[in-house]
Amino acid sequence: MATQAQDIVGSPNRLARVVSHSLSISPTATFHSPPSSFGGAQLTRTITAPKQLKPFDTQDIKILLLENVNQSGRDILAAQGYQVEALKTSLPEDQLIEKIRQVHVIGIRSKTKLSEKVLREAKNLIVVGCFCIGTNQVDLDYAARHGIAVFNSPFANSRSVAELVIAEIITLARQLGDRSNELHRGTWNKVSSKCWEIRGKTLGIIGYGHIGSQLSVLAEAMGMSVIYYDILNLMALGTAKQMPTLSALLNDADFVTCHVPELPETKNMIGADQFEQMKQGSYLINASRGTVVDIPALINASRNGKIAGSALDVYPSEPGGNGDYFTNDLNPWAEDLRSLKNIILTPHIGGSTEEAQRAIGVEVGEALVRYVNSGVTLGSVNLPEVNLRSLTMDEPNHARVIYVHHNVPGVLRKVNEILGDHNVDKQITDNKGDVAYLMADISDVRPGQIKEISDSLEALSSRIMTRILY
Ligand SMILES: NC(=O)c1ccc[n+]([C@@H]2O[C@H](COP(=O)([O-])OP(=O)(O)OC[C@H]3O[C@@H](n4cnc5c(N)ncnc54)[C@H](O)[C@@H]3O)[C@@H](O)[C@H]2O)c1
Repeated sequence: MATQAQDIVGSPNRLARVVSHSLSISPTATFHSPPSSFGGAQLTRTITAPKQLKPFDTQDIKILLLENVNQSGRDILAAQGYQVEALKTSLPEDQLIEKIRQVHVIGIRSKTKLSEKVLREAKNLIVVGCFCIGTNQVDLDYAARHGIAVFNSPFANSRSVAELVIAEIITLARQLGDRSNELHRGTWNKVSSKCWEIRGKTLGIIGYGHIGSQLSVLAEAMGMSVIYYDILNLMALGTAKQMPTLSALLNDADFVTCHVPELPETKNMIGADQFEQMKQGSYLINASRGTVVDIPALINASRNGKIAGSALDVYPSEPGGNGDYFTNDLNPWAEDLRSLKNIILTPHIGGSTEEAQRAIGVEVGEALVRYVNSGVTLGSVNLPEVNLRSLTMDEPNHARVIYVHHNVPGVLRKVNEILGDHNVDKQITDNKGDVAYLMADISDVRPGQIKEISDSLEALSSRIMTRILY
């Protein structure tokens, strides 16, 4: 994709000149790809290839990446010819405001807060890439109401979490954490009592989504029997078996592991009643969200021997940075938890691997390119998810109209009146709350008409943002 885009552009400077004479080059208003005459040579070579829609000269797109975004993401964006500035840290609010005014795209991780105050200054911004899982550092609602799409990467670290859980299953079964701690303190304690192989044991997975299903495959490969419980009826991988109820899973599993989202229904999903239903001497693992397990109930079940070991990676309250924070000030039971035997406590590192960071860079980088170059919102967390088949190289006089607007009656009629003189080849619209997203591919458009269409759409009272790609 990148190679082809560069080939077509050919002479970026020339393109920039052509554009600045004919059209506004604000990316919030009008975008265009090189005139079709640029692609003459390619046309015969890649006759059925998707046409690379470009927002004027890609070199005009300014991107700011903060917090040391992974190289994989930087490379994808730089390969498009965008101007990419990458900083290792986040920025204080005043500097962030200064910088965000100039950019069309910003890439952040969890430390940069894009509040309404900051976004209000981001007059050129069309998209935010959160190179992480969470998006609560961004005012998603404000962004949506101003036509700024937000993307993240919720699943790129699933494999890393699944592997951590496999490691924890063996570590708990063999009491490795305690043996290691003892030897660190100088105590040789060679025991086999209550230490087990995991072969032939039953793993109960609660939540059979991205992580739970990966884990299912890995656990079976090590000779475990897998059962799972999910609110959805999901096809089993390998010889895993879906259980009809949570109780049925808890009754049968030697190891119980939680992989559900944080929801009101999953709060304290594993509490005193559930520990009662678990097998004597079974194990509990939670690397999902801290609210899923009632920790005081876990402490009781561990002290009375019902639970032989546990591993926690997530907690109801977690500190904002590294340091000596895992105390009763953070969570009132922290010190009781730390004093238990055979418990692995990790600081929310389930997804923290080099591979996951790289995968996040690729996923978010590609989503940003797709959005900037062709308006596709698949995977956006705050705008409706809209996709439209790519234009092909044999559709030279087509334009793609993107109109983000307030979700009020009568908009489609007005938009279609504006597009009416052209052939609307395909059109799609969807809404999320108060914001709607319309994409239409129209044919027989002369370059001079593009500005006319853009201006007419911009004049509608429903308008949030208009972009035209061709
Ligand atoms: N420890 C970490 O570093 C780390 C990293 C990534 C994800 N996570 C967390 O792991 C959890 C699972 O992530 P995922 O990517 O597999 O999510 P997912 O959305 O792919 O899967 C979640 C599954 O849980 C099921 N589910 C929802 N509510 C349920 C309920 N009440 N009872 C039973 N099943 C229910 C869903 O149907 C779905 O199949 C999430 O909480 C996520 O935030 C933690």
